[in-house]
Formats: sequence, C-alpha cells, structure tokens
Amino acid sequence: MKIVLLGASGQIGGALQRSLTPLGQVVALGRAEADFTAPEQTVAAVARQQPDVIVNAAAYTAVDRAESEPALARCINATTPGLLARWAAQHGVLFVHYSSDYVFDGSGQRPWREDDAPAPLSVYGRSKHEGEALIAQAGGPHLVLRTSWVYAAQGRNFVQTILRLAQERPHLTVVDDQWGAPTSADWLAEVTAHAVAHLLRRPQDGGLYHCAAAGATTWFAYAALVLARARQSALAANIKTTEILPVPGSAYSTAARRPHNSRLDCGRLQAVFGLAPPPWQQGVARMLAHIL
Ligand SMILES: NC(=O)c1ccc[n+]([C@@H]2O[C@H](COP(=O)([O-])OP(=O)(O)OC[C@H]3O[C@@H](n4cnc5c(N)ncnc54)[C@H](OP(=O)(O)O)[C@@H]3O)[C@@H](O)[C@H]2O)c1
Repeated sequence: MKIVLLGASGQIGGALQRSLTPLGQVVALGRAEADFTAPEQTVAAVARQQPDVIVNAAAYTAVDRAESEPALARCINATTPGLLARWAAQHGVLFVHYSSDYVFDGSGQRPWREDDAPAPLSVYGRSKHEGEALIAQAGGPHLVLRTSWVYAAQGRNFVQTILRLAQERPHLTVVDDQWGAPTSADWLAEVTAHAVAHLLRRPQDGGLYHCAAAGATTWFAYAALVLARARQSALAANIKTTEILPVPGSAYSTAARRPHNSRLDCGRLQAVFGLAPPPWQQGVARMLAHIL
C-alpha cells in the first residue's frame, strides 16, 4: 500500500511519518514537490504517485497572519484540499485531513459535537471550515479529524513559547478565559494510523470526527504547569519568571479572535474506532520530560 503524506515537516506531519510507516510505503511530498498555493500542480504531483491513501497534514496555520492573507489561507486550507479530495474520490482513494476547534465560535461551556453548527470567528477558522465542506462534498472515502491546541516536542508551539519567555521575563501574563485540551501530535498520528487501517476495511465509517485529549484547561493553567516542571528541571537556573498572572483574552489585541470554549466531544471517535482519548496532562508530561 502506498500513502502520500503532505505536510510532513509540520508537528502532526512529523509524527505521521513514524506512525504510518507500518501500514505501507509512505511517500512524503514537501512544499517543493507539492506547493498548496498551486492547487492543480499539487493534485498532479500527488496523482503521479498513484497512492492508495492521501494524508494531508499541510495547512496555513498562522492564525493572526491569516487575517491579512485571507486568499492565501483559503487556497492552502480549502481550495487545494478540496481539489485533492475530489481527485481522491474519483479514484477511490482514502483522503485524510485535519481541521480545528476554530471552526466554532466558542460560545457556552459544553464540549462541541460534530453536528454542532460551525460559526468561525476568524479567517483561519473560515478557511478550515470551507476545507471540511469541500472534502465532504467531494463524496469519496474520507476522514477529517478536528483537533485542538496541538503540540509536539519539535516545532513551534505554546510550550516552547512559555519556556522561552520564562528565561527572558520576570513576569508573565497568560490568557485564562479560553478552554481547551492540549493534544499531542504523536497521539493524533497514532489515531490516524489506527483509523486508516480501520477505514480501508470499513470505508462506510469515514467522515468527520472530533479528536482531542480528554479534559480541559486554560492557557494560564497550562503555562503554570509548564513553568512548575521547568523549575524542577535542569532549566531551573535559567528561569527568570517569578510571577505568572491570569488575564482575559481581551487583554491582548490579536488580529484574529479566538474561541473561549474549544472543548471537543470525542464520543464518536471512541464509539466507532474504540479509541479513548488520554487525559491531556499525560501527553504534556511526556513531552516536558523529553524537552526538559
Ligand atoms: N497547531 C494547532 O494547534 C492545531 C489545532 C487544531 C488543528 N490543527 C490542524 O492540524 C493540521 C496540522 O497542524 P500542525 O500544527 O502540524 O501544522 P504546522 O506544524 O504549522 O505545519 C504545517 C505544515 O504545512 C506545510 N505547509 C504550509 N504551507 C504550505 C504550502 N503552501 N504548500 C505545502 N505545504 C505547506 C508546512 O510546510 P513548511 O515546513 O514547508 O512550511 C508544514 O509541513 C492542520 O490542518 C491544522 O489546521 C492544528
């Protein structure tokens, strides 16, 4: 079996390169071979590989920058994945893709279900929602995993930012009114491999699934945990932060609005694939042990 992997240099893509290998031959096409700003060329590059499965972890993920580059975000997150999914549908190829909690407006406190109505607050969220819709419309066998707050030991993410700032600043202020579950790229990649094997046997189980770690926290509580672990590690001598303060998201003027409630109900993933999300603290502890 041949799997074409797009976005292998990203957080989830890097983990997928490891998790998909036991399933078959993994051919990673990077931006040089498949640039998502050129939709037709990307489809042609993928088609030349004659894959059995396409896994797309490539995306425009700069949430704030997207506000000033809406056409680019749309092309990378919606137009190109949509065309790839159409090609996949025409050739009976399974298409796997990732989406985001940012498709929701973040109202309320209840974890969002797959059939809740999206109402994105940002250009990024709209582009991800349009991508989902185009993939579903393509009508072929597909899997879209909506996830949240992704981290990997490698790559730029919140944890790396907090560790850097903690070595530079005596005081940190961190947002305390946005709730979600930090989710490990390694776990997402394992889920993907398991689900791909399942869907090759039972394509009728394809569709949209919420896929995030269990439980919920705020960026502030998450940062406090990262800082506490850093203080117990070899990094302790370099930590300059003596105080970390909770603030509302409104204290920061970011270009893109972010949802307050990013909790995702993963019951469907559990029911269909038999996969129970691990508590978010588990993967974060493993990543911190690795980094620190
Ligand atoms: N990060 C999160 O918190 C989060 C949360 C929810 C959902 N998601 C979704 O999860 C998926 C993966 O996210 P991630 O955090 O792994 O992303 P990431 O680390 O930012 O990686 C993005 C990947 O996309 C590639 N890419 C960007 N522009 C491209 C282009 N024009 N042509 C080809 N490739 C391009 C990048 O390649 P280069 O190395 O060449 O730039 C990189 O491999 C995305 O669909 C994202 O929307 C992420």
